[in-house]
Amino acid sequence: MNTPDFILRKWKLSDAASLAENANNIRIWNNVRDYFPHPYSQKDGKDFITMCNEAPEPAVNLAIIVDGKAVGGIGIVLQTDVERISAELGYWLGEKYWNRGIITKAVGQMAEYAFNNFQLHKIYAPVFDFNIASQKVLQKAGFEREAILKQVAIKNGKIIDLHYYSLFRNCFSYNFQNKKDINHP
Ligand SMILES: CC(C)(COP(=O)(O)OP(=O)(O)OC[C@H]1O[C@@H](n2cnc3c(N)ncnc32)[C@H](O)[C@@H]1OP(=O)(O)O)[C@@H](O)C(=O)NCCC(=O)NCCS
Repeated sequence: MNTPDFILRKWKLSDAASLAENANNIRIWNNVRDYFPHPYSQKDGKDFITMCNEAPEPAVNLAIIVDGKAVGGIGIVLQTDVERISAELGYWLGEKYWNRGIITKAVGQMAEYAFNNFQLHKIYAPVFDFNIASQKVLQKAGFEREAILKQVAIKNGKIIDLHYYSLFRNCFSYNFQNKKDINHP
């Protein structure tokens, strides 16, 4: 997975310092789920990378590498039971690297990786109503806004709407119907 701007690869323990340096930013935390640590320490980074390294293959979390350093993350959360054909997408990038088009390309690469490696029909991303940059990213990457869930979440004590953006497998040249569903033989 290479472009001139960045590489997506699996997390390495040696990424912990750069991960913490880039993730420790309230402007990132304000736009992500509350389980994302803040402040973000090197120990948080090591714990996250250890969790990633112990998870089954293929990896669901990838590091975003710019100039050899891990400066962001992108990942999917595979859903379960009857929703096992769906995955939630999430991402963040160190502020120094914003507005270079990196995440728009990373979302496209991650969607391709996810559809190629998992038996998914749909990838979706819930975005806070005020996060216009992320909504633009998803639109540019081919996602469509399918719903606005009103007053469904709370961040920093404020009740907010979530904008659900989705991408379906049939946007890719892959015939899902011909794939065996491993969880439902
Ligand atoms: C959202 C985020 C991932 C975007 O990454 P990025 O690499 O800067 O994104 P891109 O450069 O590919 O695209 C950003 C787009 O948003 C636009 N944008 C940036 N800030 C904006 C703002 N405040 N209002 C409106 N548009 C904005 C940019 O101009 C660009 O659009 P354009 O290409 O039409 O000019 C990054 O800002 C980030 O990590 N934010 C904090 C964490 C986060 O929001 N994660 C996503 C949770 S759903």
